[in-house]
Order: sequence, then C-alpha cells, then structure tokens
Amino acid sequence: MHVLVTGGSSGIGAATARAFGREGHRVTLTYRSGPDRAERVVEEIEKTGGTAAAVPMDLGDHEGIRAAVAAAGPFDSVIANAVMWGGDAPREESFEEVPAAHWSEMLNANVVGNVVLAQSVLPAMREKGFGRIVLVSSGIAEEGTPGSGPYGTAKMALHGLARTLAWQAGGDGVLVNVAAVGLTMTDSTAIPAQAFDAVARRTPARRLSTADDVAALLVFLGSAANRNLTGEIIREGSNAARSAHTM
Ligand SMILES: NC(=O)c1ccc[n+]([C@@H]2O[C@H](COP(=O)([O-])OP(=O)(O)OC[C@H]3O[C@@H](n4cnc5c(N)ncnc54)[C@H](OP(=O)(O)O)[C@@H]3O)[C@@H](O)[C@H]2O)c1
Repeated sequence: MHVLVTGGSSGIGAATARAFGREGHRVTLTYRSGPDRAERVVEEIEKTGGTAAAVPMDLGDHEGIRAAVAAAGPFDSVIANAVMWGGDAPREESFEEVPAAHWSEMLNANVVGNVVLAQSVLPAMREKGFGRIVLVSSGIAEEGTPGSGPYGTAKMALHGLARTLAWQAGGDGVLVNVAAVGLTMTDSTAIPAQAFDAVARRTPARRLSTADDVAALLVFLGSAANRNLTGEIIREGSNAARSAHTM
C-alpha cells in the first residue's frame, strides 16, 4: 500500500509513519515547518528497510494540497493527522473576544483542508475499489475544554465528515473513520508530567497512550486489516471511556 500520513514530521504522525513503514508499506509523510524533522523520520523508515518520502503540505493552502496529492499520489490510505493547533490565539481570551478571523483560519485549515485532501485522494481510491481514510480527532471534540473553541469545533466537524463520507465512498471500497485520540505525551504536549499522571489515574487502564499506541490504532484503521468498519468514531486512551472522568 502507499500511505499518506499528514503531519508525519513529529509526534503521533511520525510514530504512525514509522509503524506503516515497519509493516512494509510505502509511506509519504507531510510536514509544514519542519523539513529536517520530516527527513529524519524518512531516514528512520529507510534504515528499517522501508520506503518513504517527505513532502510539504499546509492545510490552509488548498491548491497546495491538490498539487501535493497529484505529484506524490495515488494513495491507498490516508491518515489525516496534521493539525493547526492555533496556539497563537491567547487561551485566556473570553469567548466573545476570539476574532472571527481566527475561527475562519482554524476551520479553513482543520476542516476544509481535510475536505480538500479527501476530495483529492478519492478518485484514485474509487478507481481501484479500495481506500482507507482516517481522520484524527481529539477527546476535546466531544468533551470541550475552556478556550479551545476553534480547535474542538474543527475536530467535531471531522466526525460529521467521516459519517457522511463513509456513505458517499463506501460503495467504492473506501472506509472512513475517526480516531478520537486522548491525551498523548509527544514532543509537542505542553503539559507537565505530573498533570499527565493525574489524568492517567482516572482512565480505565490507568495509563495514557504513547504515540506508538495511537499509531497502532491508526495502522489498523488505515489498512486492509480493517475490513468493514466505517463511519465510526473510535475513542482511545484517556478518551476511551469518558465516564472515567467521574471515577
Ligand atoms: N498529543 C495529544 O495529546 C493529542 C490529543 C488529542 C488529539 N491529538 C491529535 O493528534 C494529531 C497529532 O498530534 P501531535 O500531538 O502528534 O501533534 P504535533 O506533534 O504538534 O504534530 C503536528 C503535525 O502537524 C503539522 N502541522 C502543523 N500545522 C500544520 C498546518 N497548518 N498544515 C499542515 N500541517 C501542519 C506539523 O508539521 P511541522 O512540525 O513540520 O510544522 C506536525 O507534523 C493532531 O490531529 C491532534 O489534534 C493529539
């Protein structure tokens, strides 16, 4: 299979690209600002005998997404993992103060960018009669958290997108699911280890996922091992059993 992992230059995306590489799949991973990090992931995959390449992709640049898919595709599987975190907007701003321009930028990248990505990869998947698309979401989509309106709203939109697309592409062998990821320690996770442990204690398994744990789920959903699961929202890690928060 040829797999596209967006945002494969760090964190969960890098772990997922490596995992697909280990399984013998050809991997194309995307980066936005970290070509060096992306190249390191490519080298790691190649060292273990895999085939990989890195290409730039910005979710906010829709023409660029189409061009990247045209140049690097076709793909059998797409892991839509890249995210515009939107950290530039101060979290302490009140809801009323978050500028409409920030909402537009976040939804344009994290929702419309992934719609354009799906539109770009689907024709080849339909022709082949096989495809897997996995949209990476967050527990914050359904739970909410103060100050993450644009991020959470964008992630929740991906749930609706998966449900629709599952119907629209299923007849052509394309399965579409959401992995709603819980708190995962990566290089970019900006919370102290102590807080991380506190969340872990409130999960059913008493531990949070590592990037490799999430990657294993994404590899399953994004490969032929997933034979007929589609339109589903899979909650994992600290997001696995939401009632755990009341334990
Ligand atoms: N980590 C968690 O606790 C957690 C929890 C729930 C859900 N998630 C979800 O899991 C996914 C991966 O998270 P992560 O923690 O691994 O993130 P991360 O380490 O920050 O990686 C984000 C990736 O997205 C790329 N990126 C950033 N802005 C982009 C843009 N505008 N267009 C295209 N690509 C862009 C980055 O590229 P460059 O580095 O090259 O700029 C990087 O490869 C995200 O969808 C996130 O919402 C994570």
